[in-house]
Amino acid sequence: MSKITPSIYICDTTKFYDEILKLKEVGIDWLHLDVMDGHFVPNYALGPKHLDDIKKHFPEITIDAHVMANELEKNVVQLKNADYITFHINSIQSKGFESLISEIEKNNCKVGIAICLDNTIEDIKPLLHKVDLITIMSIKPGFGGQKFEDAAWNIISDVVNYCHKYHPNIKTQIDGGVRWNNIKKLIDKKVDLIVVGSLLFGESDYKKVMKKIENL
Ligand code: DX5
Ligand code: ZN
Repeated sequence: MSKITPSIYICDTTKFYDEILKLKEVGIDWLHLDVMDGHFVPNYALGPKHLDDIKKHFPEITIDAHVMANELEKNVVQLKNADYITFHINSIQSKGFESLISEIEKNNCKVGIAICLDNTIEDIKPLLHKVDLITIMSIKPGFGGQKFEDAAWNIISDVVNYCHKYHPNIKTQIDGGVRWNNIKKLIDKKVDLIVVGSLLFGESDYKKVMKKIENL
């Protein structure tokens, strides 16, 4: 069964503490924290202060910081309290992949990479020896509430099958547009983590949503 990881940015952000408590009560132990810089994507989201505060109150929750930003080196240092730091391979700039990875590892974080619909598995194969988590975007990054792009299915199959065969220790994750009409198919594909934003936070009864997912 895939693990459900809520995109906490999509909740009512004036109620972070209560929302995370509510999520814990329904068994959530892994959160997805969207970081956006207004440049790599045309939107702003959460940052290091949110991460540190959540970790202070909920140290037991695993947090994957999904960094949609250009200045990766700076972000990696500031987000050192995350358990996983996920960056987009399309955003790697001057210093390159290897040095970014060592920065992440220096902070005892695990390494995540994110790929978009214009990437293929060939783009990431050479990087996989250093990676703990692969996030496949099924939307154009930047905003919650978008429609799942059907073009993602091929990339999902390629990456998940490749990892199961050659890198069973790498976790796979789907982010964006997860709804009732596609979540079962994602679970059947045996992705490790499924990010849910609108699907969960659009409802008030999280227990009901989680039960419905379990019963799919
Ligand atoms: C978008 C973010 C996603 C998104 C999820 O750039 O990475 O995490 O907000 O929200 P939904 O599930 O509504 O697409
Ligand atoms: Zn995300």
